[in-house]
Amino acid sequence: MKVLLATRNAGKLREFAGLLPGVELVPWPAEAPELPETGAFFADNALQKAEGALRWWKANRSEILDGVLSDDSGLCVDALWGGPGVLSARFASELDPAAKNLKLLALIPDGVSRKARFVCVLAFASLRGDAFTVSGAVEGTLSESPKGGGGFGYDPIFIPEGFDRTFGDLPTEVKQRLSHRARACEALRRKLGI
Ligand code: IMP
Repeated sequence: MKVLLATRNAGKLREFAGLLPGVELVPWPAEAPELPETGAFFADNALQKAEGALRWWKANRSEILDGVLSDDSGLCVDALWGGPGVLSARFASELDPAAKNLKLLALIPDGVSRKARFVCVLAFASLRGDAFTVSGAVEGTLSESPKGGGGFGYDPIFIPEGFDRTFGDLPTEVKQRLSHRARACEALRRKLGI
């Protein structure tokens, strides 16, 4: 199965390669445009990106694919009323990832719940144009300070439920087994029968 992956996020790309064995992932071409994500919900943005990528592919490429896959994901923090959520990529985007994590932790007042969850919605669009979404989430808490150099984005400040180390600090296999993206990929594989 050959699927166009509509993302330039290197962290997501690495993870999908391990989460979708047997699927040939075609990277989003360098000359293709940034895909807009203007929705209020993860699913809106995932569908918008998959459909935008499909339109671009059909207008610019003749290679036949089995479909287009997009990922919209983020970190939802209870103490921030679910934020940064769909705005996770845009939160403090002027900062490098390490400074961004420190800025997010500084927003959490002492003594409040540090509960958070990573959410991932995948949209899959076939070349005919029909599309569906699947989702996955992983519950956890925010660490007191960033820890670990693994993963990407908010991984160094997120401790998944049942562990006492962050995704950035835990072995890669742990995140690949229980992450929001791993769970969404399981649902995708079930739905596609692969
Ligand atoms: P988007 O899906 O392109 O809107 O970007 C999602 C943003 O959420 C990423 O840029 C990361 O900051 C964050 N994010 C999503 N998934 C993960 C993850 O698995 N680990 C750490 N951060 C993530």
